[in-house]
Amino acid sequence: MIDYNKIVKEYGTPSYVYDTDVLLKRVEYLKQRLGSKYDLVYAVKANTFIAKHLENSVSRFEICSPGEYEICDKLNINPEKMVISGVYKDEETIENIIKNHGSLPKYTIESINQYNLLLKLSQKYNCCLHVLPRLTSGNQFGINEDELFELINIYNKDFIIIDGIEYFSGTQKHSLKRLEKEIDYLIELTAKIEKELNFEVKEIEFGTGLPVYYYQGEEFAEDEFLESFKVILDKIKNKKVTLEIGRSIAASCGSYLTKVVDMKTNKYGNFVIMDGGINHLVYYGQTMGMKIPHYELLPHKDDVNETYNLCGSLCTINDFLVKNITCRKLKIDDIFVFKNVGAYSSTEGISLFLSRDLPKVILYEYSSYKVVREKFKTSNLNFPNNI
Ligand SMILES: Cc1ncc(COP(=O)(O)O)c(C=O)c1O
Repeated sequence: MIDYNKIVKEYGTPSYVYDTDVLLKRVEYLKQRLGSKYDLVYAVKANTFIAKHLENSVSRFEICSPGEYEICDKLNINPEKMVISGVYKDEETIENIIKNHGSLPKYTIESINQYNLLLKLSQKYNCCLHVLPRLTSGNQFGINEDELFELINIYNKDFIIIDGIEYFSGTQKHSLKRLEKEIDYLIELTAKIEKELNFEVKEIEFGTGLPVYYYQGEEFAEDEFLESFKVILDKIKNKKVTLEIGRSIAASCGSYLTKVVDMKTNKYGNFVIMDGGINHLVYYGQTMGMKIPHYELLPHKDDVNETYNLCGSLCTINDFLVKNITCRKLKIDDIFVFKNVGAYSSTEGISLFLSRDLPKVILYEYSSYKVVREKFKTSNLNFPNNI
């Protein structure tokens, strides 16, 4: 188990710590609940620091930017496990990927322009690329059904192989009804494609958007939820089904440690200033700190309770980690360990605001600690060179 006191003493705050044992157990749990028939694709955007640890547990990595590709390539992620995704695929990056890995990675197709780019490059390098056209779910992502039909009619079979389709319609999907509606839609659509175009859709890559419950007082019967979701997935017959998951894989392995650095009471309440803030901590659904996430307060001790507003160190009135939290009386140097921050906190925070340093990132594996990113100065990034 992670010794948070040791982290504070040896590595300081603010810092993230990701427990890779918890991560791998989490993936095993999902696989066990959903069954071996369904392959997992890890959406790297959720947390890049843990990607390598997932290599033997997931069947693919969803990579959505040149930066994510660079990270996965440097980590020596098997190119056969890469799905190059994202709305903007620039020529230079795709050309570089083809030069490095030939036809091993798979690509999603977000637009007809992207199809044309992939075709041009596969012809140039005389290779055949595996693709998954992405079907839109009502936003800027993906293509319409009629474009999909058209694409299947006209695609160049010498250089492109359409393995199936990709569909992702959003994160934090709590509703089994909604998931069922989406799966029914995909079953109906693929049946129509197969009948009308005489084309076999071998694979559906489905972005599940499985939910994570972050806040105290929320109850989630996850075993039952996943069991029902599996029943829904089982409606898809004779197809490879891959599930793109970020949040539900990564969230539980992460903790974020931040220290009380100042305290004051003004006529609007008790305010506690932490050395972290919303630049580092992203909880889905948290607005102005109205909800109370799961946390641990160090040192553990008994004292009378008080109510506080926990604020970060940014110059914005939005920088509330938690409002109206009732806990034991706080002191400067007390530590809050926020839980379930393994997904999106380190990748989605407004990290450059105020030029504050990025936290250290520590991996906890095999009962030891490894710093995988030192504290990082963002003032260098916000500095105007050559003035
Ligand atoms: C295409 C795609 N797939 C998968 C995911 C991961 O979603 P989640 O973290 O909800 O599992 C995202 C998240 O934005 C996405 O855009």
